Amino acid sequence: METGENTIRKQRQVLLFFVFLCMPKAGSEPRRFSVAEEMESGSFVGNVIKALGLEMGELSNRGARVVFEGVRQYLQFNRKTWDLLVKEKLDREELCGPTVSCVLPFQILLENPLQIFLAELLVEDINDHSPIFLDNEMLLKIPESSLPGKIIRLDGAQDLDVGINSLQNYTVSPNPHFQVQIRARSEGRKYPELVLNKALDREELPEIRLTLTALDGGSPPRSGTAQIRVLIVDVNDNAPEFGRQNYEVRIPENSPPGSLVVEVHAADLDTGNYGEIFYTFSDASEDIRKTFKIDGSSGEISLIKTVDFEATQFYEIDIEATDGGGLSGKCTVVIHVIDLNDNLPKLTISSITNPIPENSPETVVAVFRVSDLDSGENGRMVCSIQDDLPFSLKPSVENYYTLVTEGALDRERRAEYNITITVMDLGSPRLKTEHNITIWISDINDNPPVFTLTAYKLYLQENNSPALHIGSVSARDRDSGINAKVTYSLLPPENGDLPLFSYISINSDNGHLYALRSLDYETIQAFQFTVTATDGGSPSLSSQALVQVVVQDMNNNSPFVLYPLQNGTAPCNDLVPRTAEPGYLVTKVVAVNRDWGQNSWLSYQLLKATDPGLFTVWAHNGEVRTARPISDRDAIKQRLLVLVKDNGQPPLSTAATLNVLLVDGFSEPYMQFPDAPKEPIQTDSLTTYLVISLASVSFLFLVSVIMVIAIRLCKRKRDATDAAHLNPNGPFPSHLVDVSGTGTLSQSYQYEMCLITGSGTSEFKFLKPIIPTLPPAQASGKDSIEDSNLRNNFSLSIQIKPYQDSFF
Ligand SMILES: *[C@@H]1O[C@H](CO)[C@@H](O)[C@H](O)[C@H]1NC(C)=O
Ligand SMILES: *[C@@H]1O[C@H](CO)[C@@H](O)[C@H](O)[C@H]1NC(C)=O
Ligand SMILES: *[C@@H]1O[C@H](CO)[C@@H](O)[C@H](O)[C@H]1NC(C)=O
Ligand SMILES: *[C@@H]1O[C@H](CO)[C@@H](O)[C@H](O)[C@H]1NC(C)=O
Repeated sequence: METGENTIRKQRQVLLFFVFLCMPKAGSEPRRFSVAEEMESGSFVGNVIKALGLEMGELSNRGARVVFEGVRQYLQFNRKTWDLLVKEKLDREELCGPTVSCVLPFQILLENPLQIFLAELLVEDINDHSPIFLDNEMLLKIPESSLPGKIIRLDGAQDLDVGINSLQNYTVSPNPHFQVQIRARSEGRKYPELVLNKALDREELPEIRLTLTALDGGSPPRSGTAQIRVLIVDVNDNAPEFGRQNYEVRIPENSPPGSLVVEVHAADLDTGNYGEIFYTFSDASEDIRKTFKIDGSSGEISLIKTVDFEATQFYEIDIEATDGGGLSGKCTVVIHVIDLNDNLPKLTISSITNPIPENSPETVVAVFRVSDLDSGENGRMVCSIQDDLPFSLKPSVENYYTLVTEGALDRERRAEYNITITVMDLGSPRLKTEHNITIWISDINDNPPVFTLTAYKLYLQENNSPALHIGSVSARDRDSGINAKVTYSLLPPENGDLPLFSYISINSDNGHLYALRSLDYETIQAFQFTVTATDGGSPSLSSQALVQVVVQDMNNNSPFVLYPLQNGTAPCNDLVPRTAEPGYLVTKVVAVNRDWGQNSWLSYQLLKATDPGLFTVWAHNGEVRTARPISDRDAIKQRLLVLVKDNGQPPLSTAATLNVLLVDGFSEPYMQFPDAPKEPIQTDSLTTYLVISLASVSFLFLVSVIMVIAIRLCKRKRDATDAAHLNPNGPFPSHLVDVSGTGTLSQSYQYEMCLITGSGTSEFKFLKPIIPTLPPAQASGKDSIEDSNLRNNFSLSIQIKPYQDSFF
């Protein structure tokens, strides 16, 4: 037992420690305020500033408030002066009944940080009730034989006031026979007794009338009176007498109505009518009459309704036994009510902060008070919450607890906590109350937006329509509300050359990317830039992602025929000796295509010819060869139309016209000029030119062949990988020729000169190197793609005719 008490003391010390820790200003003694009952609403009670030693600003800033337990709030603040005022009239008798000291506990709460001041309101009694006798007329029967000194107990008067204002004195109207004597019950109530002073003589005075006055101690005193009629009886009988003057019983609260409480018994020595005893309550209060009943003949006291320990802990009842002759005797029954654990603990939330911001350190979330109307163990409580929550309960002053977070919380991990506070008493059986509160965690901008990808690759067909939606970027933000509202923007390019903002725009709301203008693959094949996602928090957080835009080629360029020249007013003629064998290489149609990949693969076909059987065109390289031996019947002038087609979808094509002259030998039709030069010097110089040019052509041919072979060998490997890289879509068709890449012709032929006939004159002309015009962007070298430089270098091709020997 002793050890148990020690532990309790220790617990109390721990609790006190907490109290001082959490509430440095809260004293252990409650502040006491007092007010007289029946004061009008608004009456002054006390000043909080003085009582608590606080600043006026502090009180208003920290939302000071008065908290009474229960629904009724008896006091309020004057928010200007911080005076405590009566909120509604207080009736002491109603609040506390017969309890002398009427004290209402309350608390003054301050928030941020939470501070609780315990306080008490003492309701002072005023003398607003007079003593009242339940019976205004009392009838007493006294045997004539009674001796002086006999005591007759009388019913007392009732005064609802307490203390000095309660009933203090009884007086009886002056008479020679009786005097009054004052007795007090165990609980303090006073009752009068009549004491016989002088022997009675019925023949002289059969009846005596007295006035009994009850006085309270108020100033001025209030009083109540009752009339007493004393009848002197002649019959020599005996008054009933109880075996015991005091009965004491205990009944558990909540016993059902009808339960027997106790049976009292009085004995009367008389027989017959004078010995018949009738039991009644004497001087019983309203409460007693409504709770208990007595069987008049048996003396059994039983319950009319259940008793409640929390309302009344004991009853003291006077029982009067009266016999047939009117003589009576009295006894007192004290009934103790035993407490049962019949009240659930109660939990009252005083203050709650909801929601609480995430990332905040240990924070008070709620302050609540627990109470249990039961007493002893039945009223002792333990308080708990679930174990798996980052919250804990801390005891505070007198049955106050605070619910605090154990540390910073993360809304993104959990945004809502359902906390069940369980209050359980230690009675038997244990009763518990659950109170659920939901705490929301409010968002703080602690997460940056995160892109779904770190790098985006978007493909775009060249020649797109302006303002085309080419793709989207997207970023998520784990925060909520405005903190998760993501806006997108383009970051100015580091490389200032790229006119990014004229190419691309972004919808800041949804991250959709638009190509602002039509892009040309031949100008720009790819570019990259950075997008930023910024959230709406303050301060805002952002992140970046790289976007690469790849422009895809479209078949938008027709093949371009390099040879034979197609724009000349007088196209070149290719010469073929009539002695040529089948398969003789007449010429080669050379074409390029500025598109890329499959779109640039070319094929050749003979579309039309003067004599369709005489020539063939090799589909994959454009070589024009004789198909059969040439006969004398074949016309001298042969015209061929060769179609050059690319592999795009749909394909684009160009037709090339070739003029072929069938000649017997170089001397006959070509060295005979119809208008022979008259001056031999001119002829000589022409010959010299021819010799020089042919020599240089031969030299160039050799150099070219060597270089071509060398370049071919060097590049074969690279071409193989490049081709795989650039044309990933399937095998290369055998009938096509790829003229993409460097733009170098796949085989080198050299054309230096040819004969041009027309308008009666014939002359040799040097052909200039053929360089196709390039778009300005590419020509100015703005293109960042490496390959394009190579592509610009179309090399000059020269073909040496095999009949050059006979030419001389
Ligand atoms: C009661 O009143 C009588 C008469 O006024 C007085 O003599 C007596 O002292 C009073 N008794 C008490 C206890 O006040
Ligand atoms: C909390 O309780 C509410 C209502 O009972 C429920 O809708 C919600 O899902 C609960 N939340 C958690 C985190 O358990
Ligand atoms: C409190 O929550 C628990 C668990 O969600 C539930 O079982 C219980 O019924 C709730 N109690 C009240 C009073 O709502
Ligand atoms: C033919 O086209 C080429 C290249 O486009 C050009 O250099 C040449 O001057 C043109 N010739 C005539 C006669 O237009």
